[in-house]
Amino acid sequence: MSVYRGVVPQMGFGTWQRNGDAAVDCVQAALGAGYRAIDTAERYGNEAEVGRGIAGSGLPRDEVFVTSKVWWDHLAPGAMRDAIRGSLDRLGLDRLDLYLIHWPSPSGAVAVESYVETLLALQDEGLTRHVGLSNHTVALLGQAVAAAGGRPFAAHQVEVHPFLQNRAVAAASAAAGIALTAYLPLARGAVAQDPVLAEIAAAQGATPAQVALAFLMAEGHAVIPSSSKPERVVENFGALRLALSGDEIARIRGLERAERYTRVDFAPAWD
Ligand SMILES: NC(=O)c1ccc[n+]([C@@H]2O[C@H](COP(=O)([O-])OP(=O)(O)OC[C@H]3O[C@@H](n4cnc5c(N)ncnc54)[C@H](OP(=O)(O)O)[C@@H]3O)[C@@H](O)[C@H]2O)c1
Repeated sequence: MSVYRGVVPQMGFGTWQRNGDAAVDCVQAALGAGYRAIDTAERYGNEAEVGRGIAGSGLPRDEVFVTSKVWWDHLAPGAMRDAIRGSLDRLGLDRLDLYLIHWPSPSGAVAVESYVETLLALQDEGLTRHVGLSNHTVALLGQAVAAAGGRPFAAHQVEVHPFLQNRAVAAASAAAGIALTAYLPLARGAVAQDPVLAEIAAAQGATPAQVALAFLMAEGHAVIPSSSKPERVVENFGALRLALSGDEIARIRGLERAERYTRVDFAPAWD
């Protein structure tokens, strides 16, 4: 059972809404359970606690893949440089593994070409090993890829779960050679109530959450589930052991119903 496939580990722990000592504890629980990737963002307000959790795990720095993200009001060159330095300071690290543009600039206030240039400059300066995008539409992704001039994005992080499979963005990302990271992979827990996932879970001796995560990984995506409960942190990691049949994957593909949970007024016009 390996968490690695490609640059970004297949299974990471999401830390949105994990704050204070609980954030320290759940990061340590995740690393203790075998996760080797931790997803945070300046916007989550928990980078200091995430950093304490990583340091307290006792794992060598090189064994933990740390992702953070720049918020959309920090996309201008000087602001992004200050933002990554702030993230590194709070995390207690001298380099990130992956730095993502959290959201495209609302109404294009900062041009895609400008923030991609800044992001690549930060990578050149050694502040992050890899760079990537989040919440980009097919059109914005195309602009970003063109602006990067052949330099790779290691990930595109978007909302993807059995009820929103985001196929247009997945196809455009794949065509550009960019792996998707599925955020909200459990549809904020709603997968646990789905009868099809429950039926497949019973046949597999697994849980519906594990089936949802195994499905997303079988589709080639990385996943970053989150939980405040240590037993669920372990349960979710167990999805790496599941092998779904072609028939099971086809049934889960059929659960698509364009159910988007992320509703914010600064989002781009989704595909
Ligand atoms: N790039 C972006 O714009 C963006 C946006 C949103 C999120 N993210 C990232 O994606 C990560 C995951 O998203 P998320 O935390 O919002 O959603 P999620 O992982 O889909 O769902 C988390 C919810 O599911 C519940 N849950 C967890 N494991 C479960 C299980 N085995 N069975 C049943 N319920 C379970 C949790 O409740 P309990 O705590 O009670 O277990 C929690 O309420 C975030 O933490 C963040 O790192 C990125």
